[in-house]
Amino acid sequence: MGSLMPAWLMPVAASTHAAKVDRIFIGLTLVSAAIVLLVVGFVVTFAIRFRRGSKADRGPLPEVVSREFEIGWTAATLFVFVFIFWWAASAEIGAFSPPKDALEVHVVGKQWMWKTQASNGAREINELHVPVGVPVRLVLTSQDVIHSFYIPAFRLKRDAVPDQTTEAWFQATKTGTFQLMCTEYCGTDHARMLGRVIVMEPQDYAAWLSAQPEGDDLAHQGERLFSEKGCSGCHAPGSTVHAPNLAGIWGQAVQLDGGKRATVDAAYVRDSILQPKRDVVAGYAPVMPSYEGLLSDGEIQELTAYIRSLGAGPREVRTPGVPPLSSRVPGAQSERSPAMVPGAPVADTPSPAGPVVRP
Ligand code: CUA
Repeated sequence: MGSLMPAWLMPVAASTHAAKVDRIFIGLTLVSAAIVLLVVGFVVTFAIRFRRGSKADRGPLPEVVSREFEIGWTAATLFVFVFIFWWAASAEIGAFSPPKDALEVHVVGKQWMWKTQASNGAREINELHVPVGVPVRLVLTSQDVIHSFYIPAFRLKRDAVPDQTTEAWFQATKTGTFQLMCTEYCGTDHARMLGRVIVMEPQDYAAWLSAQPEGDDLAHQGERLFSEKGCSGCHAPGSTVHAPNLAGIWGQAVQLDGGKRATVDAAYVRDSILQPKRDVVAGYAPVMPSYEGLLSDGEIQELTAYIRSLGAGPREVRTPGVPPLSSRVPGAQSERSPAMVPGAPVADTPSPAGPVVRP
């Protein structure tokens, strides 16, 4: 399909999604061109045929034109529009549903650089090395203002928004270096917020990766933070404070106070850390304090990665002495805790349900 367009008219297409976007773009261009030609053709034909003084028949249209033809082209137009909607919408939905085995890369935008960190530990600034032919899932956030992560060759654009996580994914189809840019005006050096995506053969990628300084992966860093920041005081399996146990909950649906349900994903974990009183899991008191301003976006990503690693199937839970996942179904108990201020002494006996009193 790419051969229909001269190379100078389209940027390089280097991902599976780019091929889809280009097909839609070219398809829409062809349909539009056909309609323009048809309309201009009619305008010119009728202008000549019905010019002043011509002998053309100006009487009423035959019945078949004003009925069957009318119905015919209305139906055809409707069909074309519904088809275009389905075509574009299915590609767009696909662009937001990464495959399960995707390599995960966390991206933090800040004035004015892109910080990336793959789940295998590789950290970079304004660069992203990825293997060709492997789906890569991006988890984006921003440290300050809204940025937008844009790789033209992949036809991929996704906003990085402070206090939120957004996701996108791509699968590169060509090796090479492709431009990465910020496409949301974010201050003085917005135009310099550029970077490169380097797509490598898998063996080259493996070599590059092993040459990187030994870094902890996100989940390990998150595990450390989990105790440093006091999360484990309440959420550790052995804690006497009644807080939801986090092992095995990733990807699960949880019942919230007030009858709603939520799926535990990056956005939910983030909200639970920053606005813990908003979506409280049913059966628990809304006593967790907000960590707003106490954790950086990078730290939230690390904690999220840790929680995720606890629910990631066969992977071993690293906390020593933790019982198997099946015995730790959240909501199995119903007593309430007095308070869950980080570092606060842990109460030995759960207080009765009712207004929460801080010690
Ligand atoms: Cu970041 Cu523009």
